[in-house]
Amino acid sequence: MTVRINPSILSADFVNLQSEVDRISSADLVHVDVMDNHFVPNLTFGPRMVERLQAVSPIPLDVHLMISDPDRWAPGYAELGAYSVTFHAEAATDVRATARALRQRGARAGLAVKPGTPIEPYLDVLPEFDQILVMTVEPGFGGQSFMPETLPKLRLLRDAVRRSGGDVWLQVDGGITLDTIGMAAEAGADTFVAGSSVYGSASVEDAIAELRRAATAHVRAG
Ligand code: DX5
Ligand code: ZN
Repeated sequence: MTVRINPSILSADFVNLQSEVDRISSADLVHVDVMDNHFVPNLTFGPRMVERLQAVSPIPLDVHLMISDPDRWAPGYAELGAYSVTFHAEAATDVRATARALRQRGARAGLAVKPGTPIEPYLDVLPEFDQILVMTVEPGFGGQSFMPETLPKLRLLRDAVRRSGGDVWLQVDGGITLDTIGMAAEAGADTFVAGSSVYGSASVEDAIAELRRAATAHVRAG
C-alpha cells in the first residue's frame, strides 16, 4: 500500500507561505486547513488564499474544509483546482450530492469525521468518495495529542474498503508524530497529515522522510 505524507501548513509561517510550501516539496500533498470560526473556533484561509497557494505550490493541494454549510461552499474549492476537497459529515446536509459536485469539478472527494462521530452511517456512501478523513484530534488547532480511541474507526473503515474493493484513501489528521504514526498505519491509515511534527522540526525534509519510513514499516497489507 502506498503511504502519503501531507504536511499541514496550519503550523507554517503564514506570512511566508510560498517558501513554506517550497520546503515540503518532498511530501505528497500540502494539507490546507480552511476554518470559518463557526464550525470550529478558529479562523484561517479562504478561497483567495487557496487559489494563490494552488498557483505557487510545488505539490498538489489537499483542502480540509472545517466550515459550516459545505454543500454550498465546497464545490468552489474544487473549481479553484484543489486536488482533493474534504468536508465534514457533521456540517453537511447531503454528503452524496456534495461528493458528486466535487468529482464533477475534477477534485477527489473527501469526507471527514470528528473523533466522536461514528462512521457506520456513512459506509453506504463510500463509493461516492475518494478519501475518508478520520480526525484523530478535535478539529480546530494544531499541536494537540493523538486520540487512540479513534483507531477502531480506522480498522472498521479499512475492512470496509477492502470488502468493497474500491480505492479509497484513509487519512488521519491530528497529533501525528513519529510516536503515533505507526499505530495509525497499523489500524489502516495510508495518508498522514502532520503539522507541528513537520514544521516544528529542525529539518522539515528529514521529518517527512522519517514519518514516511515509520508509516511504511507499519502499514497494513491489502
Ligand atoms: C486540526 C487540523 C490539522 C492540524 C494538525 O484541526 O485539521 O490539519 O494542522 O496539526 P498537528 O499535526 O500539529 O496535530
Ligand atoms: Zn486538517
